[in-house]
Amino acid sequence: MHNTVELQQILETAIQNLKYPESPKQLYEPITYIINLGGKRIRPLLVLMATELFGEDANKSIHAAMAVEVFHNFTLVHDDIMDNAPLRRGQATVHEKWSTNVAILSGDVMMVEANKNLAKVNPIFLKDVLDTFNATAQGVCEGQTLDMEFETRDDVTIEEYINMIRLKTAVLLGGALKLGAIIANASKQDADLIYNFGENIGIAFQLQDDILDVYADPDKFGKQVGGDIIANKKTFLLLKALELADNNNSNTLQDWISKENFDSREKIEAVTNIYNSLDIPNVAKQAMEGYLSKALSYMEQISVADKQKEAIMSLTMSLMARQY
Ligand code: IPE
Ligand code: IPE
Ligand code: MG
Ligand code: MG
Ligand code: MG
Repeated sequence: MHNTVELQQILETAIQNLKYPESPKQLYEPITYIINLGGKRIRPLLVLMATELFGEDANKSIHAAMAVEVFHNFTLVHDDIMDNAPLRRGQATVHEKWSTNVAILSGDVMMVEANKNLAKVNPIFLKDVLDTFNATAQGVCEGQTLDMEFETRDDVTIEEYINMIRLKTAVLLGGALKLGAIIANASKQDADLIYNFGENIGIAFQLQDDILDVYADPDKFGKQVGGDIIANKKTFLLLKALELADNNNSNTLQDWISKENFDSREKIEAVTNIYNSLDIPNVAKQAMEGYLSKALSYMEQISVADKQKEAIMSLTMSLMARQY
């Protein structure tokens, strides 16, 4: 068994050993660029931790972990085009630094590179691994589609929102854990339990992401603060505010949503003020707690000793309190 710092070192070494062809430069340079900007490396860490949770050495799932991190970075490159985002991990996004076409193609080839990493997994597990990875990747595309569609809808329910973030974000956390479990030869029941644990953590993770999009310290966040407000994203914060607002606040929110030309700072400030007056960040945190406790109830059912669950549990708690 490795401790978390050791797992992080295993990951960083493997990430630095990922190699891409030299040319065409515009296809491959953005991959190295985005991956070397860092990031928290949560998903590959979950792959490794799940493998060790079920009693196997993390090195057995390192290729699956790389596949998951490369896939995640691919989704960010395309997400930043869709969200018109200028900043990622404190630096220019790929489409800003190069161009949208470069970001599309580099993203595409990252998906291929993710698959090349998966192909290195022990063949005994390959069918299950591919099924899990493909279901996850398809879910992310479905979630991202809903996220886009919701920008221009005015009747999105909280239930629809939760399903959207389950797909765009949570299936990948669940999928990462399940991949690690499969490679450790865990029982189907345990693999499904860890998946469900991850999915609920993932929903809480995206709720926190929505909170941070409004309330993060811009110096730490590494992304544009207020981007969701500018884009009329139907986040939990906005949907709850629309639900709880009196007529006056509700009209103000609707006005900002329908404005085509506006000063971004003014819009962000006005919407944030309404969120504050309705105590929305705390309502969102309570919703996070609900998904966290659902996640914990799945974790409890997993048939390994509590001691072995400590690493994943402490990572989970730190994710719930993350500031970036
Ligand atoms: C960003 O994920 C995308 C979301 C699902 C919110 P992370 O917050 O894990 O991003 P990095 O990899 O640490 O930069
Ligand atoms: C991202 O959701 C989900 C995926 C990348 C699939 P967001 O659009 O909220 O992620 P950030 O905030 O840009 O990282
Ligand atoms: Mg985004
Ligand atoms: Mg997005
Ligand atoms: Mg976000």
